[in-house]
Amino acid sequence: MADLNKAELIVDKAFKLAEADPRLYGSFIEHLGRAVYGGIYEPDHPEADGEGFRKDVMDLVRRLQVPLVRYPGGNFLSGYRWEDGIGPQKERPSRLDLAWKSVEPNLIGTDEFMSWARKIDAEVNLAVNLGTRGIEAARNLVEYCNHPSGSYWSDLRIKNGTKNPYGIRTWSLGNEMDGPWQIGHKTAYEYGRLAAEAGKVMKWVDPSIELVVCGSSNSAMPTFPEWEATVLTETYDQVDYISIHSYYGNSGDDVLEYMAQSEDMNRYISTVVSVCDYVQAKVRSRKKMMISFDEWNVWFHSSEADKKQEPWRIAPPLLQDIYNLEDAVLVGLLLITLLSHADRVKIGCLAQLVNVIAPIMTEPKGEAWVQTIYYPFMHASLYGRGTVLIPAVISPEYESKDFGPVPYLASTAVYNEESSGLTVFAVNRDPKKEMELSLDLRSFKGASAVDHIILDGPDPKAVNSAKAQAVQPRKGKLPVEESGSWTVTLPALSWNVLRFGV
Ligand code: AHR
Repeated sequence: MADLNKAELIVDKAFKLAEADPRLYGSFIEHLGRAVYGGIYEPDHPEADGEGFRKDVMDLVRRLQVPLVRYPGGNFLSGYRWEDGIGPQKERPSRLDLAWKSVEPNLIGTDEFMSWARKIDAEVNLAVNLGTRGIEAARNLVEYCNHPSGSYWSDLRIKNGTKNPYGIRTWSLGNEMDGPWQIGHKTAYEYGRLAAEAGKVMKWVDPSIELVVCGSSNSAMPTFPEWEATVLTETYDQVDYISIHSYYGNSGDDVLEYMAQSEDMNRYISTVVSVCDYVQAKVRSRKKMMISFDEWNVWFHSSEADKKQEPWRIAPPLLQDIYNLEDAVLVGLLLITLLSHADRVKIGCLAQLVNVIAPIMTEPKGEAWVQTIYYPFMHASLYGRGTVLIPAVISPEYESKDFGPVPYLASTAVYNEESSGLTVFAVNRDPKKEMELSLDLRSFKGASAVDHIILDGPDPKAVNSAKAQAVQPRKGKLPVEESGSWTVTLPALSWNVLRFGV
């Protein structure tokens, strides 16, 4: 008996879902742990540039082609005074960051971060504090960043060294305001009213901006999805996106249950879409609300270690999850899920980017290196641009305790007409069996297989480190065509990128 699963995928360019918004491949940097200090910024590192930013880290970030970075938080945001982070560095105050029980030296603030983002060629999604602060601080920050000149805050930006306005397009109205852990946690109605008023005046300062309002921190929140319904009812006219977050983990050490967790993301998005459309009908709006999934990743490895950290230090090593192969495959599944909702999810932020639950790690005064999850994210960002198609997936299933029947095969396809390329992303969830995949590319006559990238390995718990890259992509056998049908083998527990010239 053959020890493999058989599955089929039918891909047709007539079945278009949507253009993938490049911002689906966004990321996130928070003033948390060693993300900023000791991560992107380490002025006494041999790789530091004139502003103290590590060039080796920037090179690794550039390889990901991250188009957007959310900043400065996260839970940190809800106690942040943005004015502490501008002007001469020596005069900036150190403050207690209550969210992470750390000390924030404010050496990096809005201007420095904007400069870093330009160096990596990314837009910034700048977040305003709606925890301890409100309308005035938010409108002043928009004025500081986006108003040309001739007003107090815009002239202060110029005095601080930046003549031209930054023109920041996307702004977040607070962070996870549904969470009791948030400084300034609010009810949905309290938050909705504040977000509506803050957003209104932010758009009065600069009508070209787009606003992201907080949805739920995860699908298990007791207030989900009523939170979205109330918040959107209060803010529908002002905002352009609703933000949702979710983190996953294999704390039960059950690989098939773990691989099923992308189904949570799938159902979560579908429910939020339904709520958006319900509120659209309720408030009689012509606008379709879009989703910003601006924190997603695996996060569980570091939870116990973090409980033992000493408080009130600058840049303590928090949330330093070390990711294994399983985690990378789950990240691949989450990317496929985001792409499968590309008609409504326009922004995605892998949380986070450096050192904190991150694809990129740094050693103090030492190397920068990449984790297992770096690879699927990079592949999706490089090859997942274009029109997302709706493939038919025919796959054997397994029964998950939490999600019912789950297919062993997860897949999506992206067609890039401009570069005449078709990419099929595929995950084989089965940890034991290979999968023989038949691909019917019916509308892509004359296609040629150009690449098969695989991330897999003998040890699902294998990790990378500064010393060794145990988990790295490898080249697989190309799909073979016979009588118009393509066949390819997907190894057990693997992330696959199949690229065709079309
Ligand atoms: O990314 C880590 C934390 O997760 C963020 O600060 C917060 O928004 C979320 O709970």
